[in-house]
Amino acid sequence: MSNIIIFDTTLRDGEQSPGATMSLKEKLAVAELLDQMGIDVIEAGFAAASPGDMQCIDSVCQIVQKATVCSLSRAIKADIEAAAKSLEKAKKPRIHTFISTSKIHIEHQFRMSEERVLKVIDESVRLAHSLCDDVEWSAMDATRSDIKFLIQAIEVAIQAGAKTINVPDTVGYSQPIEYQGLIATLSERFPNIILSVHCHDDLGLATANSLAGILGGARQVECTINGIGERAGNAAMEEVVMAINTRSDLFPFKTNIDTRKIYNSSRFVSAVTGFSVQKNKAIVGANAFAHESGIHQDGMLKNRNTYEIMSPLSVGVVQSQIVLGKHSGRAALKNKAIEWGVHLTEDELKQVFDAFKALCDRKKHVTEEDVMAIIHDQQSLPQHPFISLSSFKTEQHHHGNYSAEVVVMIKNHEQTACAKGDGPLDALFQAINTVLDDIKTNLLNFEVHSISHGTDAQAEANIVLEYEGNAFPGHARDTDTIMAAARAYISALNKISVQGGK
Ligand code: KIV
Ligand code: ZN
Repeated sequence: MSNIIIFDTTLRDGEQSPGATMSLKEKLAVAELLDQMGIDVIEAGFAAASPGDMQCIDSVCQIVQKATVCSLSRAIKADIEAAAKSLEKAKKPRIHTFISTSKIHIEHQFRMSEERVLKVIDESVRLAHSLCDDVEWSAMDATRSDIKFLIQAIEVAIQAGAKTINVPDTVGYSQPIEYQGLIATLSERFPNIILSVHCHDDLGLATANSLAGILGGARQVECTINGIGERAGNAAMEEVVMAINTRSDLFPFKTNIDTRKIYNSSRFVSAVTGFSVQKNKAIVGANAFAHESGIHQDGMLKNRNTYEIMSPLSVGVVQSQIVLGKHSGRAALKNKAIEWGVHLTEDELKQVFDAFKALCDRKKHVTEEDVMAIIHDQQSLPQHPFISLSSFKTEQHHHGNYSAEVVVMIKNHEQTACAKGDGPLDALFQAINTVLDDIKTNLLNFEVHSISHGTDAQAEANIVLEYEGNAFPGHARDTDTIMAAARAYISALNKISVQGGK
């Protein structure tokens, strides 16, 4: 059976989701998970975009054992050279360079003639190939391109040394039947090249289009964990892989993915990005294997195949999630973290262990999600936080207003502040704002949801603050909802201090 190459772009296109920024540490943990799961190609970033991206790709190259590591670049000399530099330590490097081929992009964005675009493709792919043997070329907005010009562009890219040709549905415009036809045409025209699909979900068709692309002859699928990505996102890795596995009658292919690692990876990416997975999300949503109606439950008890097309275990959903308890030791905790790609230092392990024991005292059943949340909280703590929360109290007044008092440490000085607000959280956030002097932020988004079950479940708070036009996410969990929200707010402020230069 031939193979479908799974190209994961969670760390590049996925990170382009507004508010999904990950720290270096978080990205490395994700890269390790992807590598362990059997992802063939990990797109680790866009080297020329920032020194942070360059450093991330360089570090990913050093920890990835099996996968090819890919660095994205525009068709610009400096970008391609930066991509090559970022990949110097990779065992299997790949440069991925792109330019648009649709008239609308060429005329209005790039302001180039078609001849000029062909010349740029030739020069950029040639340069990339002189620096790296494995070159992928993407025709951005391929699905809205004139087919004759697209074919011409692909010919040039192949002549210049591209081994993989990606045909992105950049704006999520294509319909499965069209996309399958487009890939089939290209596959007939270029039988010896690996054609890749990269589909966006603007019309909710990213997975369907990716699968249609495979039927048309594509042998690489670009996707992300949980489908995160630019705007409505990319095709979800878990959906594409499980569709191939479950419908092997239609897709006679295999992938290298260890599907039992899917659920953990989904939880982990959700924890580090703060993008919660909707309950009814295919494969990894909390309800994906929950059977509510009596008729369905009756069928399931008689034969699971009546209503279950894949087993929860096949994607790593363990029905009993209680893995560690009050009497578990540090070694068990350390091993669990390693399973999730996180290598804790002795100091970090101590902090995580203390938080874990404290949670065991407050909560009857500590679940895998709880443990992951503690580890993630520890990992996302900056070494020298700009601001930390010492204590707070909120009070409701008889006319319906609230007041809050917070005690925070700012740059090693303790400060106390009070404020009033419409609700306890409003009062709390206002109080924190009063000690910030020159940092003026706007609250762009605030969500709280429960990450485990029961009345003592932990609440996860996700906050996005806007500061000088950029979005800074903060996440935290606690059994106390207000505490989770306050810590998420503080965590976003610390991101502003690290990434926003305050
Ligand atoms: O969506 C797109 O076209 C892309 C390219 C850079 C591959 O992400
Ligand atoms: Zn994309």
